[in-house]
Parts: sequence; C-alpha cells; structure tokens
Amino acid sequence: MQRHRQRRRRAAMLLEVTGLHVRYGRTHAVKAVDLHVAEGEIVTVLGANGAGKTSLLRALHGAVKPAGGSIRFAGDDLTAQSSAERVTRGMMLVPEGRQIFVSMSVHENLLMGAYLRRDGDWARDLKSVYDRFPNLAERRDMPASVLSGGEQQMLAIGRALVSRPRLVMLDEPSLGLSPLFVNNLFNLIKELNRDGISILLVEQNTAMALEVASRGYVLELGSLVLEGGADALAGNAALAEAYLGDHAAKPEPDAA
Ligand SMILES: Nc1ncnc2c1ncn2[C@@H]1O[C@H](COP(=O)(O)OP(=O)(O)O)[C@@H](O)[C@H]1O
Ligand SMILES: [Mg+2]
Repeated sequence: MQRHRQRRRRAAMLLEVTGLHVRYGRTHAVKAVDLHVAEGEIVTVLGANGAGKTSLLRALHGAVKPAGGSIRFAGDDLTAQSSAERVTRGMMLVPEGRQIFVSMSVHENLLMGAYLRRDGDWARDLKSVYDRFPNLAERRDMPASVLSGGEQQMLAIGRALVSRPRLVMLDEPSLGLSPLFVNNLFNLIKELNRDGISILLVEQNTAMALEVASRGYVLELGSLVLEGGADALAGNAALAEAYLGDHAAKPEPDAA
C-alpha cells in the first residue's frame, strides 16, 4: 500500500503553470511563464532583483490576478480561485520578508496558519510545529518581535505548516539571515521535502538553492531564459554571469 502510494506520488503532477502573465499597468512583470512541480519535488526559481520572482509567486498564491495563463494544482484549474481556496487545497506561500505579525504572540501567529483549514483538525499540526521548532515553543507567549531574524523565518514557515500544505512556496527565505541560519533553513527545506511536502523555492542564493533542488528555472525580466536539472544549472558558469550576478557585490573586472 505504502509502496503503491509512493509510486503514484512520484508520477503525479502537483503544480502546472501555463503561459502565465502578470502586469502592473504598463509593467509586464511575468511573461508567458510555463513551469511545473511534480509531487515530491523541490524546484527552484532563480533570478536577479526585479526579474519577476515575487510577482510569479503572488500570482500563484492568488494575491495578484494573472493577465493571462492558467494555474492547475493537483489536477484542478485554480486560476480563478481565491487565495483562501488555494490555501485550503494545499498551496501555501511563505512571503518575501516573512510578513509575520510582530505585535502578536508566537502562538497567535501560528494560529493564523490554522485559520483557513477546512477540517478543524489543526491541533496535531500545531503541536508538530512546536516539536519541530523548540525555540518557538519556548517563546510561545512572547511577542514575535523578540525573535531573531532566523527565528522569525522559522515562525513564517511554521505558520505555513499549520495549514498542512502539499506545496510550500518560499520567497527568498534566506534573505538577511546569518550563514548559520541559512544552513539551518536549507536543512529544514530538505527535511520538509522528506516529510512529503513539495517545494517551490525562489532564491537569489543560487548555489544553496541548486544544492537542495532537483530542477530549476531562471527568470530574467519576466521571461524564463533557462531551465534544467539542478546539476546542469549549477555547472553553467554563463548562467551566473548573465542572469544571476549580483553585480553590485562583484569585484570590478580589473580588480580580479
Ligand atoms: N505592486 C507593483 N506595482 C508595480 N510594479 C511592480 C509591483 N511589484 C513589482 N513590480 C515590478 O515588477 C517587476 C518584477 O518585480 P518582482 O516580482 O518584485 O521581482 P523580484 O521578486 O524578482 O525581485 C519589477 O520591475 C518591479 O518593479
Ligand atoms: Mg522578490
């Protein structure tokens, strides 16, 4: 039974995005993007600042209405569905900048994740979040403002987990974290995936993202310019140069 379920899971397509466009007035932020995540996969979307990564995730979450294209999840077309419906079906976004409620307690923040659960059965998931993150359990009744940046990111992810997602979409989760926390975070992403959660990971930390992902896509100015296996992308030196370079952080050519 278990083996049978595993086999089906590997084959099943969880997220299928076809010809997606996002526009803000004259800004065409996402242009005809096709991507997919199979059940059980970690897939990364890479791209420099302004490439359209957040816009893509916001469209998948339902926070912005796509100007075209379709979003299928677990076989159903959710393009016209609300964010709430998408969360209920198992798509969860951990937004850029965490977006936790700093004046609310850790516990209250986690309860927000239970809010859209259709079944009333979130107590077990809440407990498993506290088991997974002892730091959050210790600070359960403290305002979220007392947490470090790394702990706030754990809280944002914990809040997502309380909704028992099938797909977690993470928007630059490593941004602003110390190297130690970045390591913890990527270990956590692998752990969640081993527990059966599919992951769509938006990152500017290309090397780390390609280490945990099996496949990746590269966005430039709203368009997909490259896609492939993580190893192939990681070995593609031109990729880093052309599309992902944090030019501000690079030494001048003649200084190298
Ligand atoms: N709410 C908005 N209104 C108008 N333009 C926006 C808005 N959000 C993003 N943009 C523009 O869309 C483009 C893509 O932005 P974004 O999706 O945030 O990229 P990334 O997450 O890759 O940095 C940028 O040109 C940005 O200025
Ligand atoms: Mg962004």
